[in-house]
Amino acid sequence: MVARETLTLRELRQADVAQARRILDTSEYVHYRFAPDELPHLVELYPGVGAFSGAPGPLGRVMGGSLQAFAQVNEMSPPCAWIGGFGVTWSQGERYRDYLGLLLPALGEKLWARQVRNLYYSGADYDSDWLRAPLEELGFALTSMLRSYDKSDFSVPTEGNQSIVVRPFRPSDAEPLVALETLCFDDLWRHDARAFREAARLYPYFVVAEDDQGIVGYQFNIVDMKIGYLVRIATHPRAWGAGVGARLMAEAVHYFERQGAWKIVLNTEEKNTRAHRLYEWFGFYLTRPRGFALGLPLTPPLAPARA
Ligand SMILES: CC(C)(COP(=O)(O)OP(=O)(O)OC[C@H]1O[C@@H](n2cnc3c(N)ncnc32)[C@H](O)[C@@H]1OP(=O)(O)O)[C@@H](O)C(=O)NCCC(=O)NCCS
Repeated sequence: MVARETLTLRELRQADVAQARRILDTSEYVHYRFAPDELPHLVELYPGVGAFSGAPGPLGRVMGGSLQAFAQVNEMSPPCAWIGGFGVTWSQGERYRDYLGLLLPALGEKLWARQVRNLYYSGADYDSDWLRAPLEELGFALTSMLRSYDKSDFSVPTEGNQSIVVRPFRPSDAEPLVALETLCFDDLWRHDARAFREAARLYPYFVVAEDDQGIVGYQFNIVDMKIGYLVRIATHPRAWGAGVGARLMAEAVHYFERQGAWKIVLNTEEKNTRAHRLYEWFGFYLTRPRGFALGLPLTPPLAPARA
């Protein structure tokens, strides 16, 4: 057991980033879904909490204490947020369940104050994810199974619908894309306007498709270590089956080829048969492992007891 009275739980600050980064670099008890260099930016934007050695109260505040464990959000579009990072120092690693149990309620409280009502976690391998069981013990439940698809060539079966215009994303597209998002995705996968602007900062390829009625789709990608990540594709339901998805896919495949990627990878929900048809038509094949998402409904923080 972790002795709660010897720890201080508080929101992560910029001054804590170096310690959090050290945990990521030196411990095996880590899970993170962001580039470590992104940590200062994430701490700036989204809630994160740390467990610091040293008792609460004036002395602990003066002494500071050293970071033993932390949990950090990496995506937040209220009412949903995602745990993007969790880490425990190597020496405390075996107590990771205890730290998770301490940090998550504190994180939930911060998120509640920012209008988040559901917290999610995504793991890359349902069969061997070390955090799945402890999260389920804390009330998380399976929300979605994911499929992984790869493509190892740059052939395309079609160039798709040529009557639409595909152009780079502009910041003023963010609001219209939010409207599209509500038609295309369940709320846990949706982006708000800030998340779209974040995506434009993070992903070097971000295009929008337009027809004569306005925005009809979007798509963004990144290449890392010569692997092409097809991060997101969506088209407006009014145009489903009209080759807009195929156009965005074809352009993405050409982009990855130009960038010198040696394969293209993507994830999608197990139940999204419409997307499976598009991907399989474009020569993507199923791979292992199976990713998954867990969800936890947050509850309002308890009111402080009156003296
Ligand atoms: C998945 C999605 C992007 C597909 O976009 P779309 O614009 O409907 O795609 P297209 O019309 O270009 O292509 C799909 C069509 O390809 C066609 N197609 C598939 N295989 C084909 C083949 N072998 N030969 C000819 N046509 C084929 C089909 O007509 C298919 O339409 P269907 O699903 O009605 O059968 C879109 O439905 C969507 O945005 N869904 C919600 C968001 C989402 O799930 N995104 C993906 C997960 S991140």
